[in-house]
Amino acid sequence: MNLLFIGDVVGKPGRHMIDVYLPKLKEKYKPQLTIVNGENAANGRGITEKIYRAFMTAGAQVVTMGNHTWDNKEIFEFIDGAKNLVRPANFPEGTPGKGIVFVNINGVEIAVINLQGRAFLPPLDCPFLKAEELIKEAKKRTPFIFVDFHAEATSEKIAMGYFLDGKATAVVGTHTHVQTADQRILPQGTAYMSDVGMTGPYDGVLGMDSETVLKKFTTALPARFEVAEGREQLSGVFIKADSRTGKAMSIERILINDDHMFIEG
Ligand SMILES: [Fe+2]
Ligand SMILES: [Fe+2]
Repeated sequence: MNLLFIGDVVGKPGRHMIDVYLPKLKEKYKPQLTIVNGENAANGRGITEKIYRAFMTAGAQVVTMGNHTWDNKEIFEFIDGAKNLVRPANFPEGTPGKGIVFVNINGVEIAVINLQGRAFLPPLDCPFLKAEELIKEAKKRTPFIFVDFHAEATSEKIAMGYFLDGKATAVVGTHTHVQTADQRILPQGTAYMSDVGMTGPYDGVLGMDSETVLKKFTTALPARFEVAEGREQLSGVFIKADSRTGKAMSIERILINDDHMFIEG
């Protein structure tokens, strides 16, 4: 079982990288399942139905989200009909959308879970208890469970990795927009990486135009950030899992930009 995951797609530059590189990556890795984090896909803030559908057309089967889920108001109109859109599962009870999705790939089910961390992010239900609850439910149906843990602190992410070690096929982090080089298989067979990184502008501050961000840092005046222009990058991860047990066998880091063409293997 091969899984390809692409980190936070930011605005038009991110979507452009998906259009150019996703077909190439799919040809190289031949993943059964491709997942894209789309929380910043619409101009850096949220997602629209058109973009969600474009990801599907480009070859993704699931789109995960994060703290920017509600930033584009259009989501309230299409989230109920977006079968394979997953938002953090530990949002308050009754929130639109869902935090887990089961996809059927040639008769094999795969569960995809999205969770949000609580360190340096708005308070939410406990992501650890929520993960435990959802995985218990998912295990009844499939050994293949992929978790996108959208969180700020590496400690919280690593803790989640160990918490779910042996229970999930993979726990990968998103949200910081900076790729970490700590991809590994944890002792009980869960693929782990603290942050997959961002797909979008290569120059800029986490995908936003550096001039405006600098202005905010140097003056403390309010500023509206715009998506940066210019060079682009793609960040992702590729995971191979045992087709019987669902345990991870390998995890490879993918980073494509002007300084790195990092595709292992
Ligand atoms: Fe993001
Ligand atoms: Fe985020």
